[in-house]
Amino acid sequence: MLSRFFASRNFHQDDGAVFISRFLENPTDYLSWKDVENCLNRDDVFWELITDGGNKANIPMYKPYWSPVPCQDKKTIHDHIQDKKSFIITGYSKVNRNLTKLCSEIERSCDVNAGVHVYGSRGGSPSFKTHCDNFSNFIIQTVGCTYWQVYKNRHTSLIQTRNDKPLNYDILEIDWEGVLTPGDLLYIPNRAYHQARPDEARLSISIPCAPSVIDSNFYDRRYYQIQTNN
Ligand SMILES: [Fe+2]
Repeated sequence: MLSRFFASRNFHQDDGAVFISRFLENPTDYLSWKDVENCLNRDDVFWELITDGGNKANIPMYKPYWSPVPCQDKKTIHDHIQDKKSFIITGYSKVNRNLTKLCSEIERSCDVNAGVHVYGSRGGSPSFKTHCDNFSNFIIQTVGCTYWQVYKNRHTSLIQTRNDKPLNYDILEIDWEGVLTPGDLLYIPNRAYHQARPDEARLSISIPCAPSVIDSNFYDRRYYQIQTNN
């Protein structure tokens, strides 16, 4: 599955943004609104809600007597989604088996630990402003279209990425910009500045890849079946 990606440029000498059109043939087999609804009605994924100002909204937590861990308030999440505001679901790789297989392939082909976050909104609510992340990232659009910009500029690896400092936009240089449509993949190199500028309903998958030299404890993605005699 990743052969087109690895053939796209010389990653040993020339890391940079990569766009692969139609990377997934049936993107909603990996993430659809039904999957989002499924996540809302289970308690083993974690939600982040983004306000229209680009900050994280507070989600009340409660701990049912029988639960080993606190749960996030589902109605708060539901109302936020219905209000067409942006949200993130972390821990999605275990929800969808097609994505579990894709993560396993990434972990076999690269020296990384992969995770999956979902980004979405039922409307054109904004995502984060221009920022960078600690690790390389694959973005895959599954619903709607989103305009993206990836810059050649990167944050140093000497210090932790901090996105609270004002940016000098005059020195930002575009590496890739364009529109992701369902099935398209965008690779954002480690610590490269980037921004999504959504203006309609959309769902996308984000696969951050932490180098395995930092942590080689891989998540067990095998599917265990119970054998029964009846
Ligand atoms: Fe990001």
